[in-house]
Amino acid sequence: MIAIITGATGGIGEEFVKRLAGEVDSVWAVGRSEEKLNALRDRYGDSIIPVKADLSDRDEIFAFCAKIVSEKPEIKYLVNNAGTARMAPVSEFTLEEISDMLDINDKAATLICRACLPYMAKGSYILNIASASAFQPNPYIALYSASKAYLLSFTRSLNVENEGITCTAVCPGWVDTKMLPKTNNGKEIKYPGMVPASVVVESALKDCKKGKDVSVCSFYYRYMRFLSKVTPHKIAMKMWVRAIRQYI
Ligand SMILES: NC(=O)c1ccc[n+]([C@@H]2O[C@H](COP(=O)([O-])OP(=O)(O)OC[C@H]3O[C@@H](n4cnc5c(N)ncnc54)[C@H](OP(=O)(O)O)[C@@H]3O)[C@@H](O)[C@H]2O)c1
Repeated sequence: MIAIITGATGGIGEEFVKRLAGEVDSVWAVGRSEEKLNALRDRYGDSIIPVKADLSDRDEIFAFCAKIVSEKPEIKYLVNNAGTARMAPVSEFTLEEISDMLDINDKAATLICRACLPYMAKGSYILNIASASAFQPNPYIALYSASKAYLLSFTRSLNVENEGITCTAVCPGWVDTKMLPKTNNGKEIKYPGMVPASVVVESALKDCKKGKDVSVCSFYYRYMRFLSKVTPHKIAMKMWVRAIRQYI
């Protein structure tokens, strides 16, 4: 019985490795850096199977899916965690940057779900790491936010379609990982409600075992989710832009 974790080499992904390594026979740790993957195995033991794949590369995504189909592993957990983000107006992204972000955040996660489903029995789990930014449109992280809204929507539908396999969209707010820059123009950036990766993972594993299709780990972001449901998005976007104005 295995767990597959993408973006396993740091942050939230590494926390999943830490938590799941003792629960399954092996963890397929997917990442693009051989060095980081080998270091992960040194830290967590021989049950970690490094799988090198750059999930912005179509051929490498398809090759990884083909590996799943050819090895037919019994998959207890699939964690689609790899993701990338950048705060900037869409007009400042190159076409290649946009294509890479959508490939990593959405295309890879979707194709890997499809490849894994036949090898997941009742009682298994898919955790797709979305974000609280999926709850409303967010200018200046428009691409990231829209890519996570896709993942949230996709995961909730997948959960209905696949009885017995719990599919959970994990939607944390700010998480203290290397994804978040610490300063901007020499000024310290404040991230309201920021939590460590361990809190996100503990709560995601609890929630998926309760059968929840969405996991939000803190009261602060559960409240933000409620607000985004009751506040017209035009107003919610204005509030967001006001909050980040000093950084853009
Ligand atoms: N940090 C937050 O505030 C926050 C909030 C909500 C949701 N999330 C989501 O949580 C997930 C994990 O992020 P994190 O915060 O733990 O950040 P992180 O520490 O930067 O981890 C991102 C992971 O994705 C991997 N990755 C990036 N590009 C890749 C590619 N082309 N192919 C394969 N793997 C790739 C990274 O590998 P490398 O080490 O090789 O770069 C790394 O292991 C992401 O989906 C992110 O969107 C984060």
